[in-house]
Amino acid sequence: KKLAVFVSGGGSNFRKIHEGCSDGSVNGDVVLLVTNKKDCGGAEYARSNGIPVLVFPKAKREPSDGLSPSELVDVLRKYGVDFVLLAGYLKLIPVELVQAFPKRILNIHPALLPAFGGKGLYGIKVHKAVIESGARYSGPTIHFVDEEYDTGRILAQSAVRVIANDTPEELAKRVLHEEHKLYVEVVGAICEERIKWREDGVPLIQNKQ
Ligand code: GRF
Repeated sequence: KKLAVFVSGGGSNFRKIHEGCSDGSVNGDVVLLVTNKKDCGGAEYARSNGIPVLVFPKAKREPSDGLSPSELVDVLRKYGVDFVLLAGYLKLIPVELVQAFPKRILNIHPALLPAFGGKGLYGIKVHKAVIESGARYSGPTIHFVDEEYDTGRILAQSAVRVIANDTPEELAKRVLHEEHKLYVEVVGAICEERIKWREDGVPLIQNKQ
C-alpha cells in the first residue's frame, strides 16, 4: 500500500513507520511526506531518504511553497496514495481531504481518547492535563480522522501507567515509546487489509492468520 505521512515536528513516528516499511514489518511504502513546516525534523528526514516533501497548507509568508486543499488531493491521487497517516501534524485536515479519503486517514494522539483531546490539546499540554486530572493510565490512541479534532472512530489504544511524581516530560517519553510500537503495528494491519468495520461503525483489527 502507498502511504502519505503528515508531520509538523520531529517526526519520530514517521521514522518508525518508514523503518517498518524498509525492514519488511510493514507491507507499505511511504511515497510522500506532507508538512506545514518545511524545515522540521520530519521533512529533513524525508529529504535525506529520497521521499518527496509537500508543503500544506500554504504558509502566510511564502504562499508560493504551499498547496491548496484541492491541489493536495490531486497530488495524493497522482501518487496513488492509499492511506494518509497523521503523525504529529498539527493543522486541521480540510473537508476536501476527509471526503476524498473516507476511512483512509489515521491520526495518533498521545492520550486515551475520548478524554484529553480536542483543539488546543496537543504536545506537552496533553500530558500535563492527564497528570493534573489524577488519571492512573494514559497512552496513545490511533483513530480515523473526520472533520473535527480527535473525534473520529478509535481504532487502537495502548495503556501506559501514570506513576507518582510523573512529570509531563517523563510521561510524554513513555507514551511516545508506545506510540512507535502501536503505530507500526496498526499501519502493518491496514496495509494487510486487516481492518473490519463492525455494523455499528466501530473499526476492529483482525489478528494475522
Ligand atoms: C506525538 O506525541 C503524537 O502523538 C502527537 O505529536 C507527537 C509527534 O511526535 N500527535 P513525532 O513528531 O512523531 O516525534
